[in-house]
Amino acid sequence: MTSNPAFISRTHALAGSCFNPLGRRRDRRGILSRMPTAKVNHPNRAPGTAIAIMAAGKGTRLKSKHPKVLHEVGGKPLLSHVIAAAINVVPAQDVFAIIGHEADRVRESVAHTGVSFVLQKEQRGTGHALMTAREALKPYDVVIVLSGDAPLITSSTSEKLRDFHTSRKAAMTLLTARMENPTGYGRIIRKGARKEEVQAIVEQNSLSAAQKKIREVNAGFYAFSIAPLLRNIENLSTNNPHHELYLTDMAEVLNKAKERVVAFPTDDAYEVLGGNTRGELVDIDQRIRTAKCQRLMAAGVTIFYPETCVIDSDVEIGADTTIEPFVQILGATHIGSDCRIRSYSVISNSKIGDGVLVRPGCVIDGARVDKTAVIGPYTHLRPGSEIGEGAHVGNFVEAKNLRLGKGSKANHLTYLGDAEIGEGVNVGAGTITCNYDGVNKHKTVIEDGVFIGSDTTLVAPVRVGKGSYVGAASCITDDVPADSLALGRARQIVKEGWAKSKRSARKTSQ
Ligand code: UD1
Ligand code: CA
Repeated sequence: MTSNPAFISRTHALAGSCFNPLGRRRDRRGILSRMPTAKVNHPNRAPGTAIAIMAAGKGTRLKSKHPKVLHEVGGKPLLSHVIAAAINVVPAQDVFAIIGHEADRVRESVAHTGVSFVLQKEQRGTGHALMTAREALKPYDVVIVLSGDAPLITSSTSEKLRDFHTSRKAAMTLLTARMENPTGYGRIIRKGARKEEVQAIVEQNSLSAAQKKIREVNAGFYAFSIAPLLRNIENLSTNNPHHELYLTDMAEVLNKAKERVVAFPTDDAYEVLGGNTRGELVDIDQRIRTAKCQRLMAAGVTIFYPETCVIDSDVEIGADTTIEPFVQILGATHIGSDCRIRSYSVISNSKIGDGVLVRPGCVIDGARVDKTAVIGPYTHLRPGSEIGEGAHVGNFVEAKNLRLGKGSKANHLTYLGDAEIGEGVNVGAGTITCNYDGVNKHKTVIEDGVFIGSDTTLVAPVRVGKGSYVGAASCITDDVPADSLALGRARQIVKEGWAKSKRSARKTSQ
């Protein structure tokens, strides 16, 4: 749906309206988002909570052609982390991603989550971002505002922020953190005798010398009660060094309107970090991966030198599996128990069964490896490869769209593409399936119990029947019936004494 040009242009034409990625447009009061079907089976949901994620900015400080929120940490876009936390708090339909810069790309990359989108056509600041979401937010009581570039926020902190906000009967609650080095963050000016309330947030560029000493910073996560937010958001102004509409100025605006603004301090400055620069992105990435390794180790996985391994956030690994140094496990990979993944292997989007040994230097992408199989060293399993239980795929073997049956072996220097190989098959060294005729790809079928001699080429489409033998160095172009011997090579000629007579002929001529 998202690639439908009509839908994209419609989205552009209706800046400020909200859309569900399935293409269902809400009416101006957001009726669709209030449909009871969207709300069932969600134990954590308090009535009337929406989450807005500000994700429209360009990310100038990254000096990148890609939008900031699509930069990856822990193997997935910044925005995907924030959405994952948000949809644990409210149903996806009640999450509004505010997109603008490269909106189509951003929407496409997260549309599968089912969140709704609001288009902020021009990016005139964080306050303006929330202004564009006014219509979408009208039906709710409270909105939790998150930053699309701050991926470490947890659902539990978002919930605590909302609950604190509700308990204090505030118009605005901001999450704050104490930082050793608060440079770059907005600082909190508290007020009142007990300093519970907040007078204002002052951005870095506007800080006085005294304010620069304030260590309490604005995390960029807020809860607002919808009614006072909508009554007052119009009063934001561009009277600041950036000439933008800053959401942080809502603290002052609401104070002027005699509304209550409070701060909810977190002990965990970690959750607050934003990825505004390459340095910050790398720092966040490292923290996510370290935490991931620690969680895996706590769950029974051994990871040697975890600081050398790259394990993405969504990877799953079973207990008693060992990961050796310099291994990368990426994307939606699942590895079973009792496996050993030896050094220098890169495994992405694959499913590895229990007790599998991956020897050094393998590249496994989009493949399935069943239990107790042995892969490598230096095997390349490309997408669509399925390696059966106990099968062996060895040195310098490349596979693509291969189904290799239980207990079969292809151990040396082989290419198996678009091939279906049964159980108990031995594929000799240097075997090639010739799957491509220059225009189309064709399939090779090798049935159970076949023995393929070394250096065989199988010109697809071709089938080798059950229990057959193919002699070494054969070029097999025709189907082989079951239980046969196929030889597709020139008969050997031996000329006895030929070399000797050649040598003596050479001597006479000298
Ligand atoms: C913001 C806060 C700052 C806080 C910090 C915490 C403001 C003015 N400042 O600063 O007080 O300490 O976060 O990380 O809010 N965005 C839009 N539309 C826009 C502009 C920005 O959607 O028009 C999005 C960005 O894509 C980003 C988020 O809002 O995801 C925050 O904007 P950013 O420019 O990163 O604000 P900071 O300078 O980090
Ligand atoms: Ca930021």
